[in-house]
Amino acid sequence: MTKHFLRDDDLTPSEQRQVLELALAFKKDRHVQTPLRGPRAVAVIFDKPTLRTQVSFTTGIAELGGYPLLVDGNLAQIGKRESIADTARVLGRQVAAIVWRTFEQSAITEMSELAGVPVVNALTDDFHPCQILADLATLAEHFGGAGELSGKTLAYVGDGANNMAHSYLLGGATAGLHVRIGSPAQYSPAPQVVGRATQIAAQTGGSVTVTTDPNEAVAGADAVATDTWVSMGREDEQAERRDIFIPYQLNTELLQHAKADALVLHCLPAYRGQEITAAVLDGPQSVAWDEAEYRLHAQKALLTYLLTHGDAQ
Ligand code: CP
Repeated sequence: MTKHFLRDDDLTPSEQRQVLELALAFKKDRHVQTPLRGPRAVAVIFDKPTLRTQVSFTTGIAELGGYPLLVDGNLAQIGKRESIADTARVLGRQVAAIVWRTFEQSAITEMSELAGVPVVNALTDDFHPCQILADLATLAEHFGGAGELSGKTLAYVGDGANNMAHSYLLGGATAGLHVRIGSPAQYSPAPQVVGRATQIAAQTGGSVTVTTDPNEAVAGADAVATDTWVSMGREDEQAERRDIFIPYQLNTELLQHAKADALVLHCLPAYRGQEITAAVLDGPQSVAWDEAEYRLHAQKALLTYLLTHGDAQ
């Protein structure tokens, strides 16, 4: 069966651990594996803006020995000019894998059902699983290895209903983390995601906490994360959201509730003075730049795993 990565729980705890260990290995030796040598092409498609995801996937595919085939979503107009099903059939005949940033989760699921090659979620409205792999690899490096993640506490403050919060829940629970989400009640994570994360955590020894109290979320945490208050497509809600989210700003005062050496994560782009202050993002506890670099290593590890397991090998 072809393996896909559409949401964080598409990797079992053991598979996630293998990918994270390989990500750390890729950081030490950027050419430790070259599963795309030939070169074989990987289609990388964006229906939404990007910097990190585009750079890290295209660079990573080239470093894996492959050819990054960048497809402009505005030109392809997948689902409008041509159905997702027909696009999947065409791409799957020519490329080794498909990486897609789009809107609905159902769209990427449909792509995976007919492509016949691995499909990777490069962000949808519901999940951003590649970012969480990079975040977990960053934490693993700082904590001393992928095996050190289990039992640590990761707090996320801000918009609990967005794709990052959902992916922290699923991916964090898979890693055995105690995941805490601190968000306003009207921006709580989707109940089905909380339910699934709780189910995974029961197997991995992690746990899931959702609270409206940002201090409670951050108390004693080993790592604290946040994300923009205005996800792509929500720009018209900016002023209203600032009033709601300001108590959840990741600033020096809030960070003092975490462990003294807690790591600070931000997936970027960051808006200093909004969801995070400059003092915290640019301060000594921030690992945001390591995290941005780990997009490259983690996605190379993920593609290697998908391409060397299941029918794609
Ligand atoms: N963090 C992230 O996905 O960055 P881009 O939106 O720039 O790709």
